[in-house]
Amino acid sequence: MNLQEKLSCFEGKDILITGGLGFIGSNLAIRLIELGAKVTLLDAMIEDHGGNLFNIEPIKDQVRVNFSDVRDENSLRYLVRGRDYIFHLAGQNDHVLSLQNPFPDIDINIKGAAILLEACKRYNPSARLIYTGTRGEYGPAVKLPVSEDMPINPKGIYELSSLTAQKLFQIYHHNHAIRSITLRLTNIYGQRAQMKHNRFGVANWFIRLAIDNETIKVFGDGSLLRDFLYIDDTVEAILLCAATEEAYGEVFNVGNDHPSSFLELAKTIIEVAGTGRWEFAPFSPERAAQEPGHFYSDISKIRRIVGWEPKSSLAEGIRKTVEYYRQYKTHYW
Ligand SMILES: NC(=O)c1ccc[n+]([C@@H]2O[C@H](COP(=O)([O-])OP(=O)(O)OC[C@H]3O[C@@H](n4cnc5c(N)ncnc54)[C@H](O)[C@@H]3O)[C@@H](O)[C@H]2O)c1
Repeated sequence: MNLQEKLSCFEGKDILITGGLGFIGSNLAIRLIELGAKVTLLDAMIEDHGGNLFNIEPIKDQVRVNFSDVRDENSLRYLVRGRDYIFHLAGQNDHVLSLQNPFPDIDINIKGAAILLEACKRYNPSARLIYTGTRGEYGPAVKLPVSEDMPINPKGIYELSSLTAQKLFQIYHHNHAIRSITLRLTNIYGQRAQMKHNRFGVANWFIRLAIDNETIKVFGDGSLLRDFLYIDDTVEAILLCAATEEAYGEVFNVGNDHPSSFLELAKTIIEVAGTGRWEFAPFSPERAAQEPGHFYSDISKIRRIVGWEPKSSLAEGIRKTVEYYRQYKTHYW
């Protein structure tokens, strides 16, 4: 079966996306609508996160939107019923905030996941769940590339809360037969991400600076490696995992085996955008505290079991992202 045939399994399916008005959730929703699914989005529009109604402009008449919080047991009890697939993307992802105040991460990322899982256990045990955690769960890489069986030493509360949620999904999978797949996403960039501040989403922030013809500050000597991944590739990875029976119960890295340095990222953005400049700058104390060093994912497991691999080059992904924001900047700045 080729990849597109595999994705036909979503046609006519009833799908819930938590965090569905955010960056990844809205791109996922647009793709699912193209694939013929019936989609409901749950989002609490948490301040300074990526929730943006304009994100679903192309599909606004084809999706249902429920403005509620994943921590609301009553809403969840109702919203999980009858769903074939639930993509859990609602999360507190402000790394800087998590250093100042641990409770939003603990509350939203851990308790929110537990409430969703309990609701499924009681009201929809046959749903298939997909959770998007972070590669930050690994902490500093002991060896590159980082595979799923490497040591796990998260450096911050955000990363720890993501890991705890991931483990909750696995526990419910094994103890209660609530089928799930947990993913560890790398740094994702592309259209429909928040562009108002730089507390998360570094690649997109660099793109905003270049579009505004400003200076991109590259921390340290710019040589740190990351496996930046374009959003369309990310959405395809999430959907192909969900469509793969053997993927349930597993954890997968969703990354890119062509890492780039931050300096390469900045230079590519400036070249593609044709505007902006860059300079070196020292790490801020918050960044230094959470910086895990070089990181790029080993994606051999997802390639082998799911058949996914990234398709877009860094320059190609950046070109599409720049085009989008140049056109729709007023909705994001
Ligand atoms: N973007 C990345 O690079 C990346 C990398 C690794 C992991 N992730 C994870 O993927 C998920 C989605 O990330 P994103 O980049 O789309 O972020 P985003 O901020 O754009 O979207 C998250 C959405 O969740 C909503 N939300 C937050 N708390 C909620 C709550 N309690 N109830 C209901 N809705 C709530 C927000 O309003 C927002 O619309 C997050 O859990 C994030 O930690 C993202």
